[in-house]
Amino acid sequence: MTDLTPLLAFRWSPRAFDPYAELPPAEAATLLEAARWAPSVGNAQPWRFAVGHRDDDTFKRILVNLSPNEQRWAGRAGLLVLVAHTRTGHPTAAYDLGQAVAHLTVQATALGLHVRQVTDLDRASLAADLDLAADLRPYVVVAVGQLGDPLSLPADLVAEETGLRHRQPLDELVLTCGDTAP
Ligand SMILES: Cc1cc2nc3c(=O)[nH]c(=O)nc-3n(C[C@H](O)[C@H](O)[C@H](O)COP(=O)(O)O)c2cc1C
Repeated sequence: MTDLTPLLAFRWSPRAFDPYAELPPAEAATLLEAARWAPSVGNAQPWRFAVGHRDDDTFKRILVNLSPNEQRWAGRAGLLVLVAHTRTGHPTAAYDLGQAVAHLTVQATALGLHVRQVTDLDRASLAADLDLAADLRPYVVVAVGQLGDPLSLPADLVAEETGLRHRQPLDELVLTCGDTAP
């Protein structure tokens, strides 16, 4: 096997964001531009973004609608982006949204930033607080920022932050169909 691109090899999802690092608006725009160029079924582009910069009104509205457990760390991020999708009820809308977030994540890595996604949130309350149109479904909050000090996290999160990451081995993921081998 040849090496992964460093953009993927160095990506991981921290909770310990630097609470003082500013995320320039130009970098936030680049992240959204990366998401905008994601592929989607029929080029439907069902993704929509509500962008909160640390301590602004949108950021606070997003943060309070994360579960109390996620609020313990997410307020340190430079950006909290609520990603919602149109085409509610369409079977591929969430899949398309995920592609946009993946693009954003790779671009963030290229900018030296980190991302942690959060689905542990109160969607109905968040939709109301952000005054979202009824045809939008809030799906995931994307926390973006510079890496901070893991030891600054609440004690029970430090072990998770500094522990080894795990993945299933490839031979458990690749299906053997007939006589083909990976
Ligand atoms: C769609 C999605 C939802 C997630 N939701 C949460 C969440 O609610 N809370 C959380 O702490 N992490 C969440 N994560 C982060 C995952 O736990 C993390 O990506 C996974 O453990 C793999 O770690 P890695 O990203 O460092 O490789 C989510 C990730 C994805 C892709």
